[in-house]
Amino acid sequence: MSKVAVVKGDGIGPEVVDQALAVLSVLDLDLDITEYELGGSRYLNDGFILSDEVLAEWKSFDAILLGAVGHPEVEPGLLERELLLKMRFDLDLYVNQRPFVSTEGKGHDFVVVRENTEGAYVGEGGVLRKGTPKEVATQGSVNTRFGVERCIRYAFGLAAQRSNKLHLVHKTNVLNYSGDLWSRTFKEVSNEFPGVETNYHHVDAACIHMVENPGTYDVIVTDNLFGDIITDLAGAVSGGIGSAASANLNPDRTGPSMFEPVHGSAPDIAGQNKANPVAAIRSLALMLEFLGFAGQAERVDKACDQASGDTTTEIGQSVVGALS
Ligand code: IPM
Ligand code: MN
Repeated sequence: MSKVAVVKGDGIGPEVVDQALAVLSVLDLDLDITEYELGGSRYLNDGFILSDEVLAEWKSFDAILLGAVGHPEVEPGLLERELLLKMRFDLDLYVNQRPFVSTEGKGHDFVVVRENTEGAYVGEGGVLRKGTPKEVATQGSVNTRFGVERCIRYAFGLAAQRSNKLHLVHKTNVLNYSGDLWSRTFKEVSNEFPGVETNYHHVDAACIHMVENPGTYDVIVTDNLFGDIITDLAGAVSGGIGSAASANLNPDRTGPSMFEPVHGSAPDIAGQNKANPVAAIRSLALMLEFLGFAGQAERVDKACDQASGDTTTEIGQSVVGALS
């Protein structure tokens, strides 16, 4: 039986995850679910964010379903670093896979494979003379051959299962060191996948294509920060960030993978039954597919295509209704 941890988190997280769990309950699957109360509210209550014990416990799990973390009363960045990024790094979730399919025929049907454990997210850098007019701040981007290669190889594998078309997105004309590592690695790994057509786009141009000719893309592979930015854009242009789902994958399955909406905790609309639960429900579908329930995953995804309603609960109920 697959073991699943559920972290509802903060803001709209609990509301949207509750709808995903309602959907899960009508599928009648045998999953062993454990809820973990983590996030900003928990931190404000007892100071706990995430411990090595919890991470060690999760090693025996297959998946984690997460709502959102981020709380207006917690210093910005703390929960991101100590909870979300810690999960991504410590559980070695090195692929952040984000599919975009527009339901209104706008032509988007592509997947972004975002490197998820390196780049600008590792916190490399420092500050000197803080708070003075001579303050200096640096923030590096760490790219290892190992990290870049495994992410690119995963993307090629995915492209080979889809339309055999893969775009590398970067900014090699300016980022001459990291861009060069990414391009050379991309070229070398491509030799293992002769059937996959390869292309390269600069990240700024990719933003235009995503809006103007989204049919250009099938699979995109890119670094952590570019991937963060272009997936918000992709969500916005393909059907709204309220329906964009993501899979933070440990493809080697040495521990659990984590599934979460692309959106954040949206404290401004929390508790008002206003959030769109589709991103969380589609994240559940990605989790089911990963756990080997491909048929059920497809049913949930199709039911999401039919989702309607004005409130979180109405939309969730419409998905449940389409499945019953
Ligand atoms: C995302 C989010 C996170 C990120 C934040 C909350 C740290 O924006 O999952 O895209 O930047 O990766
Ligand atoms: Mn983001």
